[in-house]
Amino acid sequence: MSKVFSGIQPSGDLHLGNYLGAIRNWVADQHVHDAIYCIVDLHALSLDIDPSVLRSRTYETALDLLAAGLDPQACTLFIQSQVPEHPRLTWLLECTATMGELRRMTQFKDKSEGKESVRAGLFTYPILQAADILLYDTDRVPVGNDQRQHVELTRELAIRFNVRYGDTFVVPEAAFPSVGARVMDLQHPTRKMSKSVSSPLGTVLILDPPEEIERKIKKAVTDTDGEVRFDPEAKPGLANLLELLAVATDRAPADVAEAYQRYGDLKRDAGEALVELLRPLRMRRAELASDPGEVTSLLAHGSEKAGAIASVTYQRAADAIGLLGSH
Ligand code: AMP
Ligand code: TRP
Repeated sequence: MSKVFSGIQPSGDLHLGNYLGAIRNWVADQHVHDAIYCIVDLHALSLDIDPSVLRSRTYETALDLLAAGLDPQACTLFIQSQVPEHPRLTWLLECTATMGELRRMTQFKDKSEGKESVRAGLFTYPILQAADILLYDTDRVPVGNDQRQHVELTRELAIRFNVRYGDTFVVPEAAFPSVGARVMDLQHPTRKMSKSVSSPLGTVLILDPPEEIERKIKKAVTDTDGEVRFDPEAKPGLANLLELLAVATDRAPADVAEAYQRYGDLKRDAGEALVELLRPLRMRRAELASDPGEVTSLLAHGSEKAGAIASVTYQRAADAIGLLGSH
């Protein structure tokens, strides 16, 4: 069975971009692959975050993932900081990567732009991500398009380490969904949907009540030429709505476009389809929230399983690089 690994930041409420671009595929993968998923709380420290907010968001993210369909019987779900091999391997990889490589990362450029003071952890963020992936001998990393460059860097670090110190790491590949890999902001359809940047109207949260989802879709920015066709370049707002309805109803966006003459009809159906798609998540989320002890123990068990694998890989890397082993 091939090994799948992915991670998500504990940024609070999941939005439709996270769900369609990544989480939905994680849920599908857990039944056919050996799947490990991680809530990356250490990555969250690369930006300013209040300790109590971090604590509650980490827990809320776990609830969201379980509600979205991750099944701890079928996959391993754990919290990054509970497995100390992540920062340990990060150091070995920091001594493998170069400053120049990190400076080219577009996510770093975006997140540091215009800031007077930038945490060193924001700069080395992609190396911690590489450690996450390489610790589990990962073959496949299901992510949205925005993570392409980070996975590419991970591959390069794995190859460089293997060439320098002998075969140590599996070289992973990114896996992008064919539809939904880049869900756009409903108000600014040339920007990706994201919790931090977007206006509340531009982002659909997976826990938004049905009326709220329909309202946001109804207010989505389109264009004035009135013709329904799938053209992401010329008509980004409309293309985004077509994609959303397409993923929710398991069709191709161009086929969906054929079925509509009017924007209003398309918006109504897209809103309804998204409400239906997300309904079971809302219901499961409410059930889970009533049993916090159960969720905490699931996570502890996940960290134990992950730690057992990570310690073997870390030791292999430490031996290869010449650290005097204690075993
Ligand atoms: P993040 O919340 O940034 O940690 O992202 C978690 C996962 O969701 C990653 O795999 C991202 O690539 C994916 N993702 C985030 N925003 C979007 C979006 N607007 N469209 C598609 N995928 C996304
Ligand atoms: N950087 C990823 C994001 O912002 C989150 C992440 C951390 C990740 N470690 C990972 C994704 C390992 C895939 C694999 O979405």
